[in-house]
Amino acid sequence: MRPDPAASRSFSELAQRRLSRRTALAGGLATAAASFFGVANPPEAVAAARTAATNGGAGTSRLLGFPAIGPSVADGVVLPPGYRYEVLFPWGHPIVPSGPAFAEDAGNSAAEQAEQAGDHHDGMWFFPLGGGRSGLLCVNHEATSEQLLHTDGRAAWSPEKTAKSLAAHGLSVIEVEQGRDGRWHLVESEFARRVTMTTPADITGPAAGHPLLRTGADPEGVRVLGTLNNCAGGPTPWDTYLTCEETVNKYFYFGEEPPRPGSVEERYGIGSENPYPWHTTDARFDMRVEPNEYNRFGWVVEVDPFDPSSTPRKRTALGRMEHENAVTVRGRRGEAVVYMGDDTQFDYFYKFVGAEPINKARKHGRSPLDEGTLYVARLEEDGSGSWLPLVHGEPGLTEADGFADQAEVLIRTRLAADAVGATPMDRPEWCTVQPGTGAVFFTCTNNTARTESVNAANPRLENRFGHIIKIDEGGDPGAKTFVWDVFLLAGDRASGATVPPDQAFGSPDGLWFDAAGRLWIQTDGTQPMVDGAGQNNQMLAADTRTGEVRRFLVGPPRCEITGITSTPDGRSLFVNIQHPGDSGTPENPRSSSNWPDFSATGRPRSATIVITREDGGVVGG
Ligand code: FEO
Ligand code: CA
Ligand code: CA
Repeated sequence: MRPDPAASRSFSELAQRRLSRRTALAGGLATAAASFFGVANPPEAVAAARTAATNGGAGTSRLLGFPAIGPSVADGVVLPPGYRYEVLFPWGHPIVPSGPAFAEDAGNSAAEQAEQAGDHHDGMWFFPLGGGRSGLLCVNHEATSEQLLHTDGRAAWSPEKTAKSLAAHGLSVIEVEQGRDGRWHLVESEFARRVTMTTPADITGPAAGHPLLRTGADPEGVRVLGTLNNCAGGPTPWDTYLTCEETVNKYFYFGEEPPRPGSVEERYGIGSENPYPWHTTDARFDMRVEPNEYNRFGWVVEVDPFDPSSTPRKRTALGRMEHENAVTVRGRRGEAVVYMGDDTQFDYFYKFVGAEPINKARKHGRSPLDEGTLYVARLEEDGSGSWLPLVHGEPGLTEADGFADQAEVLIRTRLAADAVGATPMDRPEWCTVQPGTGAVFFTCTNNTARTESVNAANPRLENRFGHIIKIDEGGDPGAKTFVWDVFLLAGDRASGATVPPDQAFGSPDGLWFDAAGRLWIQTDGTQPMVDGAGQNNQMLAADTRTGEVRRFLVGPPRCEITGITSTPDGRSLFVNIQHPGDSGTPENPRSSSNWPDFSATGRPRSATIVITREDGGVVGG
């Protein structure tokens, strides 16, 4: 664990400091006042939210049109009255109806897996076609449950098992349409494709061709096989899809000895876990043989869903880290601005600002994401903040500091961010931009390793349940400064949460504003007890104006809820249920969940579901 720069302070002391800061900022900076669930005023926030809870979740919000549901440990997906869901695209489902059928005993070959949905569905996006009752759905497949991916699990590992695992990673592009009966289904589509860990991808931007990206198989350092641990992502204004490579460290074998303390490898988590035995059958995952292959993962990758023959492109200007998601907006000069989080304990918030307007770049055949400045966030104790540029030659980022050029700054982004004094956060996961205001909300999912000190932006020791930060740049995505606030503290009353006890949740991860301004919060990890009982992971909606939070969905045991997108009319909401029942074994695959098939011989499956209202209305409204 790296030391936290802030001195140790008590929670109440921090709250006091933030109260003063709120007063100081009032008037000039709108954010602080607009944020309801700030730690500066938890009594009022909790009291108001408790009123909503006392009303059975009916509350006063006109934005949230559904009654809150209770917690659940059931093996199913629970929704409010008047809502229904259908399972659209589970692991192993062919990407077109004529594709290879799923084998319930996980007996599909690697070749068949490459034409089916991968595992561990995560971030996704719906690109409408025509009137919005059909569209292309890009679905990330972050990881695999190897014990359930193969009929006999990890036993007798083989090249075929490595190949199937590689094929179950990456992403799917599928075409879906809604029938007259309101049900969604996949169609035979010229756009349908899988991108897997063997799909060729180009490396572009400042780091392309750098010696640290060259391997025996690619001496030019410009083309890599595959994309890996595709977590979340999002659309660009020019209708492409960004998919983010997250915890890629766990796929590469460093050797029996851990990396040297203080080394680049240690900073990037190499050797900390290695659950994938790919290196035993494919030397490119053995760092003793191919030390640079690892540097070719951990990027944001751009995919054009409307061109199935297009080559995915790894955009190195956006830095290399455990990329969670990427939210792209258009800046005031017409440039691309991309907000991103690095999901590790004590890592950072980032944004990229393009060098030229999107339209100009594209007109000249350049990518709006290949030239620009990558920034990392510093959050001050008084609620102000700044974006620190990660530009070679700046103090801390010179050759004498160990960065030979800008490519090294980008390949070793974390070290560059350490050097300029960014603020270590409690595991940044998703971010999302609020319609109308442009404020950026980031989830900090949890951080039990914060045992020594807190600061205003990470105010709890042993942060089990996480929190959400709001950043306001005054409506200018290109701004170099901002103000920030804590939007909410998750957890139970004992942990100091600002959410009412009956809506208690933990480990916020997925985060998305819908077009109406509802903030959807998805969880992955430790959940607080409610009335003495446990609960599965869930999805809630918040009204950021009134501060109300209402539980909308609870998933099956051992799943996480992640990935969210809707049709343009908001009447069909796509959500992913990731790794339900992942404690299952080949001998007893249904030990903790049998969702969604409830078959006597099958196994639990990650899946995309579609949620609709029985009266056809807007979901959540
Ligand atoms: Fe892929 Fe940090 O979640
Ligand atoms: Ca996540
Ligand atoms: Ca998570």
